[in-house]
Amino acid sequence: MNNYEQVFENNRKWVEENTARDPDFFKRLADQQNPAFLFIGCADSRVPANEIMGLQPGEVFVHRNVANLVVNTDINAQSVIEYAVGHLDVEHVVVCGHYGCGGVAAAMQPADLGLLNPWLREIRDVYRTHQEELDAIADEDARYRRLIELNIQEQCVNVIKTAVVQKTYFKTGHPIVHGWVYDVANGLLRDLNVPFKGILADIQKIYDLQVE
Ligand code: CO
Repeated sequence: MNNYEQVFENNRKWVEENTARDPDFFKRLADQQNPAFLFIGCADSRVPANEIMGLQPGEVFVHRNVANLVVNTDINAQSVIEYAVGHLDVEHVVVCGHYGCGGVAAAMQPADLGLLNPWLREIRDVYRTHQEELDAIADEDARYRRLIELNIQEQCVNVIKTAVVQKTYFKTGHPIVHGWVYDVANGLLRDLNVPFKGILADIQKIYDLQVE
């Protein structure tokens, strides 16, 4: 059996296992989804959202792209946030980056990557925003890891810039936005505890949309 046929075999086994454990598993999911989390992660094959969070189908709404970016003009990511926050009413929005991110590594190199240029330029902009801190880190790997963390932080701020998040938070006190980093080398997730209070104190007046 080749790897293509194997996935259908895997799928049949997965259905059997889930149905054996819980006969109504798929019936329940067919009726509705009620995820508590929106997970915005990297498309990297080593960062499977449900698996690393130990969550079942129906428990996490997922958006993934190269380097877990939340670009303000990206209709794709913005639609996901609009739906997850405005309609599914998720309690938590997680931006999850990962150490060893190829997208961030590429953005640290002077190279023309075609269509990827404007996408990865978002990360170069994160570097520019935090240039003083990053340039002061002599060790290249430590600087790379820090840029990965700061990129997560800035994408969290991009989530907070959206009207739907501001409006829903104003009304209900959620969603709570979190920045997480996943380490592909050991499988562990870490909450970066992004200091939103301090960040927002500086920029809130700029991005406040006066939602009601
Ligand atoms: Co990545």
